[in-house]
Amino acid sequence: MSQDNILLACSDIFVRFGGVLALSGVSFEAGKNAITALIGPNGAGKTTLLNVITGMITQNKGGIEFKSKDISDMPAHIRSREGMVRTFQNLEVFAHMNVLENVMTGAYNRYQYSVLDSIFKTPGYFRQEKQCRQAALDKLKFVGLEKEWDHPALDLPYGRQRLLELARAICGEPELILLDEPAAGLNSRETRALGEVIASIRQDLGITVVLVEHDMELVMSISDEITVLNFGQVIAKGSPREIQNNPEVIEAYLGSEE
Ligand SMILES: Nc1ncnc2c1ncn2[C@@H]1O[C@H](COP(=O)(O)OP(=O)(O)OP(=O)(O)O)[C@@H](O)[C@H]1O
Ligand SMILES: [Mg+2]
Repeated sequence: MSQDNILLACSDIFVRFGGVLALSGVSFEAGKNAITALIGPNGAGKTTLLNVITGMITQNKGGIEFKSKDISDMPAHIRSREGMVRTFQNLEVFAHMNVLENVMTGAYNRYQYSVLDSIFKTPGYFRQEKQCRQAALDKLKFVGLEKEWDHPALDLPYGRQRLLELARAICGEPELILLDEPAAGLNSRETRALGEVIASIRQDLGITVVLVEHDMELVMSISDEITVLNFGQVIAKGSPREIQNNPEVIEAYLGSEE
């Protein structure tokens, strides 16, 4: 990949938790406007790498560049303002809010009215509130949830809550979205539908995607590039076809099933 086409680059990342070396010299790149999958057996270090990229934990060693800028020491909220957003392995929707309100929370980076604006309900407050609402409705439509906009979020079936999570993530109009096992708990029909939404997040919204996922059918069907982690180390990088036929990758997965 040429330097110009890289949106995110992690180099030689080490993370240690007590006696566990969770990441050991990991280098990982995500190409601009590509879908890059990060796969590997349980405990391989995938979530840890997302945590390092988004600034939720600090690496013991190594550097991260986003948009050619060194973000290695940047706090998480600044990274998010720079244009990255993530979802979590365990689905999290705000239980006391309806579907639309959940999505609106994803746009907090872009609409900034002060506490005084909201107390005194200034014209600026109403204008931004309206824009934010419209942006959220657009995103609901994008994932196919617009009819349920006023349902309590927890009333949605699990598969629809996963789509809600995606709508919320794109509501801040990020440049990079990092998804941690978005298909976990979905049946195969729901997984295919989710795959279409992820593909169109890249295709129609131009957002770069990093996809951590165990569902190999989904990974192989929508990824441009795949990086494979095993025991905290990168064991392979390549196209879906290359990865599928890589003996070391097959070995890592078979070994992990024993
Ligand atoms: N906060 C933590 N404290 C101690 N050890 C941790 C912590 N987070 C992760 N680990 C360990 O680091 C290693 C990598 O974990 P990680 O959650 O990144 O794996 P993963 O690839 O996301 O796995 P899975 O597919 O099961 O989600 C594991 O051995 C895990 O037990
Ligand atoms: Mg994980």
